[in-house]
Amino acid sequence: MVTGVTLRPWARRDRRSIEHWPPAGVPEHWIARTSNDPARSLAIDVRNHLIGRISLRTINANDASIGIYLHPSWRGHGYGVIALQLLRECSEYQRLFLEVATDNEGAIRAYRRAGWETVSVVERNGYTYWMMEAQCIQHCILSAPYCSS
Ligand SMILES: CC(C)(COP(=O)(O)OP(=O)(O)OC[C@H]1O[C@@H](n2cnc3c(N)ncnc32)[C@H](O)[C@@H]1OP(=O)(O)O)[C@@H](O)C(=O)NCCC(=O)NCCS
Repeated sequence: MVTGVTLRPWARRDRRSIEHWPPAGVPEHWIARTSNDPARSLAIDVRNHLIGRISLRTINANDASIGIYLHPSWRGHGYGVIALQLLRECSEYQRLFLEVATDNEGAIRAYRRAGWETVSVVERNGYTYWMMEAQCIQHCILSAPYCSS
């Protein structure tokens, strides 16, 4: 069982940490189109070590779109799914959306495991994306200010 995952507000020091991260190592069109507004970003920590980031863009009072990115050496260990589940439980929003390239099979599997569902298909620049949605469960409110597995 994966434990020790925490979501917390993105801090100024986190930007310095990710400056030395390797390039994404994934096709450019896989990278989600979300705002990089630090005020709306969340740090994903494992036992106080920064492993990734969730970007949030507010659509309206109830809805937000997200992007998620993990440091390459922390992928494939279950942390992404846990972070996505924590977000559903702790977000202040009622619904979350994301766009994922249909050939990003690993990410799609992670989203489905975390309870996300495909709601529509989008074509852009020759690539096909799925718009996926998750209903929030709201056991706690993230702005308060941490949420842990
Ligand atoms: C997408 C991402 C957040 C998923 O987080 P993660 O911690 O790597 O995923 P998990 O380890 O929780 O895996 C969840 C499932 O997805 C699968 N998976 C994850 N990455 C995979 C990959 N690159 N290839 C194949 N399967 C993958 C896992 O095997 C697992 O499936 P299973 O439970 O059936 O075995 C992370 O891999 C990442 O940052 N990828 C690069 C950036 C990216 O593509 N972001 C999404 C843009 S929309």
